[in-house]
Amino acid sequence: GEPAGRGSDLAGTRVLISAGGTREPLDPVRYLGNHSSGRQGVALAKAALARGGQVTLVGANLEVPPPDGISLVPVSSAAELAEAMLREAAQADIVIMSAAVADYRPASVETTKIKKTSANEELTLRLVRNPDILRSLVQARSDRSVTDQVIVGFAAETGDADGTVLDHARKKFEAKGCDLLVVNKVGTGVGFGTDGNRVDILARRRPGGEPEVIGSADGSKLAVSHAVIDALGVLRS
Ligand code: CTP
Ligand code: CA
Repeated sequence: GEPAGRGSDLAGTRVLISAGGTREPLDPVRYLGNHSSGRQGVALAKAALARGGQVTLVGANLEVPPPDGISLVPVSSAAELAEAMLREAAQADIVIMSAAVADYRPASVETTKIKKTSANEELTLRLVRNPDILRSLVQARSDRSVTDQVIVGFAAETGDADGTVLDHARKKFEAKGCDLLVVNKVGTGVGFGTDGNRVDILARRRPGGEPEVIGSADGSKLAVSHAVIDALGVLRS
């Protein structure tokens, strides 16, 4: 159900959201992909719509239907997602990168189907890095000297020998230059393909301050979405 009391706090606000998982073509019939279903991004679109926002959803291979009443831009590869997001961001007040973007793509895309022959008992794929779309969006904002656009990133982290989930998240926050980072605690039995999510929301409380946890949520992806929009309200007020 819809949490009560948020009214139409996004009325007149243009919200751009990326959702889903990119597919990187290998040949005309194959791609490298990931397990993102698009559920979190679609939930964000629903939450933003319910709060009066004017929503554009750039959807990469969505496995769940987006709501009526939004503008849908379907894409597949990271390159297509980048192009759509950079174009649409010029008309957005809030930009949310919830899509799972492939970090690498095949170095070359074959124009004909890759055949197995007696000569290739083993096959090695060469991959190259994809551009960082979130960083490009932050860069594009500063190039346009826009000051009031808010940019949100997502991060999936596990702790490791180098640091806790929050240590890694703080570094990612600094590296990306976004205003809000929604940190997914992965490896907790929630995340891809499920309805639940556990997140901490990082932001600076004042310009130049340290990134701090300004909100958290543990529940459905819709509940997480409303918590993200609530955190945006704190930032934008
Ligand atoms: N992202 C992006 N472009 C990429 C890779 C990631 O815009 N090429 C965005 C994601 O949509 C997400 C944020 O960056 O909002 C963090 O993604 P994540 O995969 O957690 O971070 P990476 O920077 O890719 O670092 P790593 O996977 O090595 O942890
Ligand atoms: Ca990544």
